[in-house]
Amino acid sequence: MTVRDTVRWAATHGAMRLATRVRARSGNPDAEVLLDPQLRADPYANYERLRTAEPFAAGAFARISVHHDVCTDVLRSDDFGTLGGARTDGLPAVLKLALRVAGPRPTIGPIDPPSMLAVDPPEHTRYRRLVSRAFTARAVAQLRERTRQIADELLDDLAADGAADDGRVDLVERYASLLPVTVISEMLGVPVALREQFLAWGDGASPSLDMGLDRQAHASVERSLAELESWFREHLRRLRRDPGDDLLSTLVGVADDDGSGLTETELLATAMLVFGAGFETTVNLIGNGAAQLFAAPDQRRLLAEDPSLWGGAVDEVLRIDSPVQRTARRARRDTTVHGVPVAAGELVVLVLAAANRDPRVFDSPQEFDVTRANARDHVAFSSGIHFCLGAALARMEGEVALQALFERFPDLAPAGPPRRRSTFILRGYASMPVRLTPAGASPSAPAGQLPVPA
Ligand code: HEM
Repeated sequence: MTVRDTVRWAATHGAMRLATRVRARSGNPDAEVLLDPQLRADPYANYERLRTAEPFAAGAFARISVHHDVCTDVLRSDDFGTLGGARTDGLPAVLKLALRVAGPRPTIGPIDPPSMLAVDPPEHTRYRRLVSRAFTARAVAQLRERTRQIADELLDDLAADGAADDGRVDLVERYASLLPVTVISEMLGVPVALREQFLAWGDGASPSLDMGLDRQAHASVERSLAELESWFREHLRRLRRDPGDDLLSTLVGVADDDGSGLTETELLATAMLVFGAGFETTVNLIGNGAAQLFAAPDQRRLLAEDPSLWGGAVDEVLRIDSPVQRTARRARRDTTVHGVPVAAGELVVLVLAAANRDPRVFDSPQEFDVTRANARDHVAFSSGIHFCLGAALARMEGEVALQALFERFPDLAPAGPPRRRSTFILRGYASMPVRLTPAGASPSAPAGQLPVPA
């Protein structure tokens, strides 16, 4: 890390780590979750400790809400916007000065302007309009069959891998991570042959959503973002010279032609966000879904008996173990939330994963129930103008991936403890050893069979 990087880290993540430690020592449930590896692995009990305070509890470094109605109201309110450059709010003057001296971060991050996630209208409207057509429910429905083909090809490879090792494979490495990156690469016209490299950059960059990173993680984020950015910069240049029939070529063309005035940085930020969000989240939906189903054989049996339940099951996975755990907003003006004043500039943290277990919305909220009638009322894709652009795609991929997997390998079972990803906001597994078939059996179960697990 350069001196500037170190100053930037110390004034942001470093300062935040210190503040969180102080709050954790005084028993703050949010700060405890952020620091304690065991609680990070299972934060849900601590979220319940925050539920007694309304509309906000005191969080590690901002007010925080775990309530479904409060989260939804803030996310839909025009009185709140993205954090933008406001992540320096509340810093002592000396740290703000240090940041000014260090200058802006050299890379384009997913939660820094001009990323769509980090800007308010009118910029947000402009960026989102350019890409939204490719992600409508109708456009996504046309990708379903191809996604099923990709799933079947990966499952063939999985069976071959398993045959070499007594039916054992790593489900995340060999399936859950590969399916989404293949689909989004094909959509965007990015070479599928480079998917392992993209996954490595994506994994390196994904902690950039978290607050309070240590120096090593911060350095690795910056390195991965810089490498990904440099690859994309070159790729967009190639498309400008020689456009193809893909979303990024359209984006390059529109940005040039219709006077919308996208700068190269805006173009890069949009392309990189859509690409990264396209695979860094859905991998967790598939992994978290497999883990839930391993733990609930009765639910697995229901799905085997009635495959029409798979769509609802995916929403139930998104609800019970949300791949994006939280987000935040900044008040654009003095306002009130459920009668409580919030001052202009103040940050509020919204725990989507806890809102999804709000007992006022979901009966027996801690239970995983694939027949839950209102599972789709979750806020795992957020709400308001930043509602996930890829929600229809993620739902379709999750459904296709999980159904194809459990139908192909009806005896699929864990073969050792899974390992969680180090990221906190993005929640999922880095590795999940599984056995495709009972020990000693051939791992090439016939496709299309719908057996019922014992
Ligand atoms: C299970 C998978 C996914 C989950 C849980 C998820 C979750 C989210 C959430 C919570 C947000 C909003 C954050 C906020 O309000 O601050 C978001 C935004 C976004 N997501 Fe997803 N996402 C998923 C998959 C995808 C996919 C497959 C794409 C592919 C294009 C995608 C692209 C985006 C983009 C571009 C935004 C920014 C939208 C905006 O700011 O207007 N996501 N996602």
